[in-house]
Amino acid sequence: MSDAHGHGTHGHGHDERPPAEFWEAQYAESGRRWSGKVNASTAIVVQDLEPGRSLDLGCGEGGDVAWCARHGWDATGVDISPTAVARGAEAAAAEGLDARFIVGDLATWEPDGTFELVTASFLQSPVELSRGAILRRIAQHVVPGGRLVVVAHAAPPPWMSAEHAGHREFPTPESEIAEIGLVDDGWTVEVAEVRRRAAVGPDGTEAELDDSVVVLRRD
Ligand SMILES: C[S@@+](CC[C@H](N)C(=O)[O-])C[C@H]1O[C@@H](n2cnc3c(N)ncnc32)[C@H](O)[C@@H]1O
Repeated sequence: MSDAHGHGTHGHGHDERPPAEFWEAQYAESGRRWSGKVNASTAIVVQDLEPGRSLDLGCGEGGDVAWCARHGWDATGVDISPTAVARGAEAAAAEGLDARFIVGDLATWEPDGTFELVTASFLQSPVELSRGAILRRIAQHVVPGGRLVVVAHAAPPPWMSAEHAGHREFPTPESEIAEIGLVDDGWTVEVAEVRRRAAVGPDGTEAELDDSVVVLRRD
């Protein structure tokens, strides 16, 4: 993804398009949308884990999937946009990485295996997205001892207009945990923090962004 994550058209709050149409247009209407680099807040958490099978939800153009594959994970990514998935698969193949990319709508898509790690980095959308239900359901595919890592924008970037920011919800780690709802169901909170990171805006402005970082471990 780019450091400028969170700017751009998905800042709008009034779009009524079906998610598949909305997100495919976001990617298809432009060239590569994100930088292809891993999300820093996700990498900081995952780098300390023993590699196994990983699944990235809403993987976009696959920066996190490629990073996992590079670091020994048997990595899979799923996204609703065929264009984003094709870009991720192409970039991974060009690098000789063994990673899987799947087109799927998380509202209904079901993995056919189990995972040591499920990640969701900025799985945030201005159109329909039953995020809590999706995370809760897919988390059932995490093995005991495995993790669910959820990273989200906790505040608007300075370059996002007040109008766009006003239409969006920015979670706290606590609201994330409440939305996911696994804690009374055999999961333990390992990390629940807002972490600040350096970022560069679309016009080259440097800024600091706040990420909500939540790590849940299945008991
Ligand atoms: C803000 S982007 C983040 C992309 C990527 N995780 C990253 O950090 O660069 C949100 C992603 O979620 C995907 N998405 C939104 N709704 C989805 C759904 N119902 N099923 C699968 N993917 C979805 C979008 O296509 C988009 O790639």
